[in-house]
Amino acid sequence: PSVSVQDGLIEASLPSGESVTVYLYGATVTSWKTNGQEKLFVSKKAHMDGSKPIRGGIPLVFPVFGPPPQNHATSSLPQHGFARNSNWEFLGKSSSEASKGDFAVKLDFGLSHTMLSEEFRKGWPYEFGLVYSVTLSKDALKTSLQVTNEGKENFEFQVLMHTYLSVENVSNIRIKNLESKTYVDKTRNASTHTESSPALAITEETDRVYRDLDPAQPIIVSSASDDQPLFSVTREALTDIVVWNPWIEKAKGMSDFGPDEAYKNMICVEAGSVSTWQTLEAGDSWEGVQSIKSRL
Ligand code: BG6
Repeated sequence: PSVSVQDGLIEASLPSGESVTVYLYGATVTSWKTNGQEKLFVSKKAHMDGSKPIRGGIPLVFPVFGPPPQNHATSSLPQHGFARNSNWEFLGKSSSEASKGDFAVKLDFGLSHTMLSEEFRKGWPYEFGLVYSVTLSKDALKTSLQVTNEGKENFEFQVLMHTYLSVENVSNIRIKNLESKTYVDKTRNASTHTESSPALAITEETDRVYRDLDPAQPIIVSSASDDQPLFSVTREALTDIVVWNPWIEKAKGMSDFGPDEAYKNMICVEAGSVSTWQTLEAGDSWEGVQSIKSRL
């Protein structure tokens, strides 16, 4: 495997051709290619200069999902917290060979309390350590986040891997394995529903938080025309899945989303722990993992 580190960008590729790109800003994965094809969506108007979280790829949400609640330790943080808009450090790479010629490369990134801007340090004054590992193998992209409480008091957090999958046409996909799961619909005053569809079609603005899923059961994004799987997403310790597509009006309203019609070319399937808070006691660690397969 080859790894290059340049100007805040880490790029890794395997002899078999797969590649991944990660920005130190947010430790945001911005590209994952297999078979010469880009699998992640990045908006053409995304800010890549660290002035705003990157609109696309896999932004990391930590320690709060969505707008922070009032009277909570995260209340003064921005929407989705600070991980996606802080500068991480590159901790190094390691490679392995599962069988002859079948390589994997792991890139590790770190973020801790002292690395935060003063604003974020004040907004969330806990001693924490994050290690984010991005592992590229022939058939998967694995992202895993380890959270450690390095302080003397407990803290609460939420976490989400806000993955923008690239699709040819969002109207031609179906999302499977959500049937009978409970979800909160953020487009309908956060009302609670039960999913009735075995193969969810996206036909309008969609912003749902599905909860209490079995992380080992893959969420499948498949092609509606031939039912072939396009992506599968398995998780460890991440029991929620957010499904998001801004659709026409919201896409137009986001200054960093473009072109306007690009909402057709993406679907966010986001693995996380967001419907409750994880409490981490002093000295403890927690780890959540997402693994996406594409060449199925
Ligand atoms: C999703 C949320 O995860 O992220 C949506 O469920 C939100 O409500 C979307 O609109 C994008 O958020 P942001 O902060 O990147 O514009």
